[in-house]
Amino acid sequence: MSRKQTNEKLTPLYNKHAKRIRSEQVQSTKKTTDARPLSESIFWPENDASFFSHVNLEEVFSGQDGVVSAPFSSQTNCKLFQNDSDDSLFGDMSLHSATQTRNATVPNNVIENSFNEINITDLTAAEVKDIFYDADDFTEVQNTQMFLDAMPLLKSPNVSLSQSMSFLSKSILDGIVHGTQYETYEALKSRTIMASQCNNELAELDPLDWQTQAFAEFESTKQQQQLNDSFPSKGSFYGLPDKVKRLIFEHKGIDSLYEWQQECLNLPAIKQRKNLIYALPTSGGKTLVAEILMLREILCRERNVLFILPYVSIVQEKVSAMSPFAIAMDFIVDEYTAGKGKCPPQPQRKRRCLFIASIEKGAVLMDSLIDAERPHEIGLVVVDELHLIGERGRGATLEAFLTKVMFLNANIQIVGMSATIGNLNEISMFLNADVYTRGFRPVELKEYIKCGKDILQINSAGQTMEEIFVPTRSVNFNYSPAVERADPDHLAGLVSECAPENCCLVFCSSRKNCENVALLLSRIVSKQKFFEHRQSEKVDLMNALDNICGVLSPVLAKTLPYGIAYHHSGLTTDERKFIETAYRFGVITVICCTSTLAAGVNLPAKRVIIRAPYVGQEFMTLCKYKQMVGRAGRAGLGDAGESILITQNKDNLKVGEMLFSPMDKALSSLEQQEATGLQTLILSVIGLNLADCRRDLNRLVNSTLLAVQAGALEVAVDDLVLRILRDMFKNKVLKLKDSAPKSNCSDIMTTQDINQSSSHAASLNRRLLISQSTRFQLTSIGCAAFKAGIDYKRAFAIHNELQQAQQRLILSSYMHLLYLVVCFNSNERGDELFPADATILFREYTTHTAKTHALFAQLGFTEAHAARLAKTQSVQGPLSLQLNRLYKVLILTDVLDLLPLPEVANKYNIERGTLQHLISQSTAAASAIVRLCEQIDEFWCYKPLFERINHKIDRCGTLELEPLLELPAVKINRAKQLYAQGFRTIEDVAKARPITLAKSVEFMSVKVATEMISAAKIILMKKLDHLEEATELLKNCLSNQETSQNTAT
Ligand SMILES: Nc1ncnc2c1ncn2[C@@H]1O[C@H](COP(=O)(O)OP(=O)(O)OP(=O)(O)O)[C@@H](O)[C@H]1O
Ligand SMILES: [Mg+2]
Repeated sequence: MSRKQTNEKLTPLYNKHAKRIRSEQVQSTKKTTDARPLSESIFWPENDASFFSHVNLEEVFSGQDGVVSAPFSSQTNCKLFQNDSDDSLFGDMSLHSATQTRNATVPNNVIENSFNEINITDLTAAEVKDIFYDADDFTEVQNTQMFLDAMPLLKSPNVSLSQSMSFLSKSILDGIVHGTQYETYEALKSRTIMASQCNNELAELDPLDWQTQAFAEFESTKQQQQLNDSFPSKGSFYGLPDKVKRLIFEHKGIDSLYEWQQECLNLPAIKQRKNLIYALPTSGGKTLVAEILMLREILCRERNVLFILPYVSIVQEKVSAMSPFAIAMDFIVDEYTAGKGKCPPQPQRKRRCLFIASIEKGAVLMDSLIDAERPHEIGLVVVDELHLIGERGRGATLEAFLTKVMFLNANIQIVGMSATIGNLNEISMFLNADVYTRGFRPVELKEYIKCGKDILQINSAGQTMEEIFVPTRSVNFNYSPAVERADPDHLAGLVSECAPENCCLVFCSSRKNCENVALLLSRIVSKQKFFEHRQSEKVDLMNALDNICGVLSPVLAKTLPYGIAYHHSGLTTDERKFIETAYRFGVITVICCTSTLAAGVNLPAKRVIIRAPYVGQEFMTLCKYKQMVGRAGRAGLGDAGESILITQNKDNLKVGEMLFSPMDKALSSLEQQEATGLQTLILSVIGLNLADCRRDLNRLVNSTLLAVQAGALEVAVDDLVLRILRDMFKNKVLKLKDSAPKSNCSDIMTTQDINQSSSHAASLNRRLLISQSTRFQLTSIGCAAFKAGIDYKRAFAIHNELQQAQQRLILSSYMHLLYLVVCFNSNERGDELFPADATILFREYTTHTAKTHALFAQLGFTEAHAARLAKTQSVQGPLSLQLNRLYKVLILTDVLDLLPLPEVANKYNIERGTLQHLISQSTAAASAIVRLCEQIDEFWCYKPLFERINHKIDRCGTLELEPLLELPAVKINRAKQLYAQGFRTIEDVAKARPITLAKSVEFMSVKVATEMISAAKIILMKKLDHLEEATELLKNCLSNQETSQNTAT
């Protein structure tokens, strides 16, 4: 499509937004003194070349054009563009606004006196309710004195002030410790043993003398020899070819390493390939060290690498960022997230692989490699945000994964990094890892607390409370009484001090609160200043959201004209990506978000405001606080970043406690929720043949983090293992390896039990004797649970559902199969994710056909139930479980019928992000059921059915688009456009020129097009490798045949 055509097509949309924006604008300008009529050209600039012009893009990315600067601040340089892997929209947008930004002269702290002119009473009652629905009680008195008065209560009677201060200075500023510390695992262990003999505690880390200890040790010839063996050097850049250094500059804009990065890359642990944990404050530059290590493993040691990251969005960002390195250095990058990544991966003989994976998928990948007896293909595992090992649920998955990697003893090095981990010593004990910490931040972060109108700076070097919490100023934004009532926290004033010239993140405690605060801000901030900032790009953004995501949320429609957005999981991935990209390019300058953004997305800010010290209902922890404030003061964003935590009087004491507290410890969650995590670990190690007797299991479980923390958590690990084994035998998940289990056995007995028992003979009849070396294995249901990646109790429940359905499966539509898929993730009430809406359910029931009713009827739902549903407007009652599940089935049916997702979300009154979550959860569930059915003979007929469902839900698209959907950043809409422009296969994309490709897809930058081409090339490289592999095999077969024929003759 030509640019002209595109513009013509978009004109009505522009006008649509223009109207909306204009009505907002008119409303506000009516009240301001310098109100001026707005011309249509504001919304539809005639010569606007910002969007589709690809002017000098190469210059932008190569950084040769001194004029170009990122929109965040006048000091930002082009590195920002190179660092952030934007998705699509604004890759080529920055030029025309760069000068505008550079010339912006509004200094910080100078606020227009516009707040007193805003009349909040012009809002309708509904809007007031909508916006201020959870505003805090503004009548509460709060000021510096109130805050300081609460602080001494924190001081323990036994601890002197100076002692507590020294602790404060340790934890408050960096989240970890000051200065450089390096401790080998062995030294830490021996000190721990000594410490535990004295006071039963693990040793604290002490600063070490670098020159005398660490390096002197390393200089020994033996270790030098070891280094040469482990890292055949390929060049002078930390053993890598110089080309890598150039690539780092080209793609990341980094021309030299920080001193700590050099130090870290020269650590004895690195040189001796020992496990290592390194911990530095947020924004310290940890990723680059990990990337150099990974490249070294791939290029020098020629082994594959598994890089574990906590969120799918970050995995995808990293895949894009590493692709140019892969193309240039001839290795493969593979994404492993929910629907992506083959397990086990196809063996690659020629090229090495960098697997970038989410925690869950990384664990599945490793299991598949162990199962295929190929774990040695991995040489290095890197785990980012290692503190997540302490998180409920996936923390257990991460711990189990790392335990297995270590237990394998397959010479796989583990490197972990984190900014916020309070018990490095324990994690070091768990991973047999050396520890390196350093209190380094490239950009200063100034932390403030706002108490009423007073702003106090946190000064960790202070000796008294007054010195620690230093009053810096009192805010006075000249609010009118109405605005004061509406915004008692002065959010709009604080935001306006920073934005729109610089970017600002406002952390809110809940999703609803994010939307409310965004609305509030868009009502109160200076209309003129915020509205005029990058107007045309904001219209482009709104169009993109409308066109590509199919809908623009009503709240965003109101806030985006002012460059303000909200960001939480209620938005779809595409919507979030657009918002993130627009923010990175300074088009959106304020994002109201939940704490997940802090860890989930790499979005920097000049100022971070924490609206209240809560995450959901819970009080914030120091770890969460540090993660949030760490978004400010990142490299490339000027001299300093700042964070402001707003506290109310009632929370003062708790805020103090939080700031004074040591950094959160990462505690094992293997034994939580009836030890489900440990049980799943045991199931998988038996399934993988890593352990098949109690002795092995005890050894394995004693190498977990749980075992390191057993004392503190008061867990008797061996007893726990035995209890789990008993349950597994009782439930017939385990059986003896060499002989059939006795049919009447009701329990298992250990040798110890027998010794304690008075009537051995009687017991032996009823019981099964399991000594330390008795070998056992999984039964088919045990195998099914292991393969499906669930605990065996869940496997039994699903087994029962499938067995019952086998008798009377309804195959006239997909509904019954979808019902079984939905069951996979169901909780007891079937209302996980969201409950059914009785009114909508009734409406759907009455409009559906006999086909639908067949399933309702089979589940016991009659006309009478329907009448009751309509009358009570509630799904409560004996059928609530079934109805909650049916609701999801109806939704998924519409998805499979290709109803546009925004329409589906609207129809069933759920958020689009939640719908997307349901779809991806159901895709994963369908493929898990396939794996489960493969292990159970009686379910042979289910396998193809669920494979089909899995495919249908995952793709929701037409067959011919499938090859294109393999590419990252290509969803249905883009695939359709590419297809229409003649790009029908991966080969077509790989051959394309970036400019041509970018022009053929709406809202796609040249940068994204380049990344897409790189990804296509990587897919082709993989295919080529497989073909060569197959050719090799065939050749071998033929030559073997010839040899045997020759021998015969
Ligand atoms: N040597 C360097 N010179 C200049 N910039 C650098 C250097 N190393 C890293 N950076 C930049 O610093 C920024 C922060 O780096 P990175 O994301 O690795 O931080 P981090 O330590 O992982 O922080 P977090 O704990 O918040 O994830 C990035 O934009 C990165 O490109
Ligand atoms: Mg990081």
